[in-house]
Amino acid sequence: MLLLMPIITVVDMMGTVEKEFEVEKGTKLLRALIDQDVDLVHTCGGNAKCTTYRVNIDVCTSNKETVAQKELFAKKVAQGLPQFMAPRMFLSCQLTVEHDMEVSPMERYNFVIHDEGVGKDATDEITPDPIWVDLER
Ligand code: FES
Repeated sequence: MLLLMPIITVVDMMGTVEKEFEVEKGTKLLRALIDQDVDLVHTCGGNAKCTTYRVNIDVCTSNKETVAQKELFAKKVAQGLPQFMAPRMFLSCQLTVEHDMEVSPMERYNFVIHDEGVGKDATDEITPDPIWVDLER
């Protein structure tokens, strides 16, 4: 049986395609992007603590999110940052690739220099251990 691998299309803020690649289903999105040398910031190393590596996902948006992401985004909204209510915004460290995705990175190292640097290499698994809930944004 032929198993098709999901395709990730990386686009810039203007919608221009930068890169397209296949990835094994179930791969953490941040891991897949790092492995393809996509310019990104992931300051906390993929632990749902920094929000530096947010992405807009325009194709096959997940209808689930992790509790860690949900709580972090709720905290940001409470701090006066309503953009964290956007339905297509996810942390790439809190999502696995299950379908084709069009991904638009929101924070590029080449555009925004963080004092902490680009970030530690991310683990292969979602951390903390994911608890999935329905997306309500
Ligand atoms: S929240 Fe820090 S890399 Fe995802």
